[in-house]
Amino acid sequence: MKILVINGPNLNMLGIREPDHYGKETYQDLVAKIENHCKQKNIDVELFQSNHEGDLVDKIQQAYGNTDDIVINPGAYTHTSIAILDAVKSVNIPTVEVHISKVEEREDFRQISYVRLACVKTITGHGTDGYLEAIDFLTEGK
Ligand code: DQA
Repeated sequence: MKILVINGPNLNMLGIREPDHYGKETYQDLVAKIENHCKQKNIDVELFQSNHEGDLVDKIQQAYGNTDDIVINPGAYTHTSIAILDAVKSVNIPTVEVHISKVEEREDFRQISYVRLACVKTITGHGTDGYLEAIDFLTEGK
């Protein structure tokens, strides 16, 4: 069982950026939390973060044939990127969309999610625990 966890732009700034929305844990804290969770569950996990849309598309494409499931938080590209939507559709790998904040209670422009159209589930507003819930859903609950 291999899971790829992808984080988009500015998620490397966790702990620094807007703590009221995203909390105080850093990206490294998030990586450690996910790795520990997966170790306990015997899941092979790879984490990837990029601020660049094309790099996110490349990573999703490279998952084809190499990864069983994907957890993705595309950051602001959630609301703009048809390319990321098409990439997830292309590889046809079960994918869960995660947002740390409760996007549905924020600005109008955050109400659109393109990637959601290709995802089996969306988790919002559960902080970084949302990533673990996504992993559990993909490995136990599908
Ligand atoms: C986010 C929500 C997005 O609207 C925002 O652009 C982010 C983070 C979240 O995790 O809550 O960068 O995806």
